[in-house]
Parts: sequence; C-alpha cells; structure tokens
Amino acid sequence: MGLAWRLFGNPALRLIDSERAHSLSMRALKSIGESRTGRSVLNSLYKTPEVPIEVFGKLFHHPLGLAAGFDKGAEALLAWSAMGFSWCEYGGVTRFPQEGNPKPRMFRANKHRALVNKMGFNNPGASEMRKRLALRKTVDRWPKSPVAANIGRSKKVPNDHAGDDYAATIDLLWDHADMFVLNISSPNTPGLRDLQGHEYLESILHSCNRIRSKKKQQKPYLLKLSPDALDDEIRSTISFAQKLGIDGIVATNTTIKRPIPLSTQSRKAFSTGGGLSGRPLQSRALEVIHTAFDETDGKIPIVGVGGIDSKDSAWEAIISGASLIQLYSALIFNGPTIVSSIVKGLKRRVTESGFSSISEAVGYKHI
Ligand SMILES: Cc1cc2nc3c(=O)[nH]c(=O)nc-3n(C[C@H](O)[C@H](O)[C@H](O)COP(=O)(O)O)c2cc1C
Repeated sequence: MGLAWRLFGNPALRLIDSERAHSLSMRALKSIGESRTGRSVLNSLYKTPEVPIEVFGKLFHHPLGLAAGFDKGAEALLAWSAMGFSWCEYGGVTRFPQEGNPKPRMFRANKHRALVNKMGFNNPGASEMRKRLALRKTVDRWPKSPVAANIGRSKKVPNDHAGDDYAATIDLLWDHADMFVLNISSPNTPGLRDLQGHEYLESILHSCNRIRSKKKQQKPYLLKLSPDALDDEIRSTISFAQKLGIDGIVATNTTIKRPIPLSTQSRKAFSTGGGLSGRPLQSRALEVIHTAFDETDGKIPIVGVGGIDSKDSAWEAIISGASLIQLYSALIFNGPTIVSSIVKGLKRRVTESGFSSISEAVGYKHI
C-alpha cells in the first residue's frame, strides 16, 4: 500500500497540477522499474493471475494492458509488467519532435472519475525515440511482454502528406515494437480526425503497408478510432480499413463530448477543449467495441479502451467483443491495485461463466 500511495495515492498529488503529478509518478515508476529490487517489490504487491489469451499470434498472460499516452516516451517499460499489466503501449510518437500544447493541458474531474487532456502529442520524435529504445535493448531493459507503439501525425505535416509521416515513424521504430497503433483519432491535433475519411486512410495504409512489405517479419497494424464518429461512419471506416489490410481495431480514443459538471472542479475541466477519458466514456466505448465486432464478424481482434475501471466494465468490454483491453484514467483514480483487481475479477468470471478460457468469452454478447 505504501508504494501505491507514493506512486498515485498521495493526497498531495491530487492538489498539485495534474500533469506535474503525472510527471512525479512517472519519475518514481521509471526509477523503480529500472531496479531489480524495485521491480520485485512491485511484482509482489501487484501480482496478477494468469488469464491467458492468444492475440495476433502472441500469448498475452491476460488481456489488460496500459493505454497510450501514459508512457509517451517509453521511459518506464519495465515498471508496467512489474505492476501486473500483460502488455503496454508507448507513445504517441510523431515523426518530428513536438512540445505539445501550452500548459496547463491536463485536468481532473474527480467526481466523475474523468480526465480532460489537450496534450497535443508532446514527444521527442521518432528518431530520438529510436535511439533511446535501441539503447534500452542493448542494456537488456526491454520487457518480455508485448509492446505496442502509438503513432500520431506530426502537427506540422498536412493531412495530404500524413501517409509518409506515419510510415516514416513506423520505419524508424520497426525494431522497437511488436505492433503499431495508427492513431487517427486524437482530438488534440487539428485535422487529425479527418484522417478517418477513406481518401486519407487509403493513402496512410498504402504508405504503411509499403514499409511493412520491405520487412522480414510481419507486425500487426491497428487503427485507433474516435468515439465521436457516428456508428455508420465507424462501420464504413472499419470495413474500408479491413480491405486495406488493417489487423486490429482500438476502440476508443478520448471524446470531445462532456457530461453535465457536478462540481466547480469538473466545470473547469469540462470547459477546457480536448479529449475526455475515464468513466463518462465507458458506455460509448462499449458501443463502439460492439459495433466494431459486429462489423468485422469478430474476424479481427479489438482492443477495448475507455472508462475501464472495474472487473465488471472490463468483462463487459470483453463480452462486447474485445480480445484485449487497456486503461489509463483508472490508474490515476484507483491507483495500481486496479490492475490485479481487474485481472483477478476476470479470472473469476471466466470460471463462473463456465468458459474454458477467456477467448471463449470474447464477443459472447453477440451470440
Ligand atoms: C493525458 C492523456 C494522454 C493521452 N495520449 C494519447 C496518445 O498519445 N495517443 C492515443 O492514442 N491515446 C492517448 N490517450 C487516450 C488513451 O490511450 C485512452 O484511449 C483514453 O484515455 C480512454 O481510456 P481511459 O478511459 O482508460 O483513460 C491519452 C489519454 C490521456 C488521459
């Protein structure tokens, strides 16, 4: 408990600026993750049971991973598996380095268990990331569990050249991820969501496929969707992307919609432009998972993300069609114990429901 308190639960962290609290947690996680003792302490505190599932030809110890945006610079890769996650996604990374939007750009709405962020892909750029990740590998600090890279479009590159921008980043990071998430759904880069339209999507996937065809090993490409598109648009984007060789869907990114505020703090957070995550996103994310599974007949894996903060919301995402799930906001509001609590809950649900493995539960709601 002491460590959880230090990392996320310290009440002082709740009083200071959200991004600063996040940076302090990240700094602690980075140093704990880099030390063998630190990792074994995390491990003994947050050990998760096995609820194995094979996705994209890889064995995941259980479905729950860390969502994009928390570890933008892939600085704490070893901490995530020690904390019980079975996989993690670093980034968003863009081809060119970016500072992101001016601060403050991350706001909490505690009563809603929601965050609003307008980070704007602050990251060191793909070349610098490649250097850092290569170094991490040479000193044997690469996790054994699967790692995804979240790829965004550089702000200075217009949509007409987005294909080359995404492809160049994938090319640079190819050796440093097991799968690539094409993020065309962040609300914080002007025009990014327009990339869900067929013309742009075609050019992006063609450029990315060209890179992949030159590599010896095939790695999956996933498309991360916005919860704000209409269901018909979501179906159309998915079926088009499937024809162009996409391997999986991530549903969903943050929303630009807002609930009615319940406090001064949430009024302030909700009046800020940017993407809302956490509990208020849960029901829409579930709908999108359901729609995606329906549209694809369950033929390509779906990663469910958005408001997952309990064993029940995690289970709902899985029976709606998600083979893998992720969370971000729940780590802020619940602390790291949320990881093992969800995975233990999933294990119990699998047994109680009479399934022989969790893969039998995926999309069960559709039967
Ligand atoms: C501060 C912050 C930064 C984020 N950055 C990214 C990002 O770079 N790329 C991305 O695809 N999603 C990003 N996300 C979205 C999350 O990956 C996730 O889709 C969203 O938060 C919903 O999950 P949650 O309700 O569990 O937080 C970010 C979310 C937050 C709160």
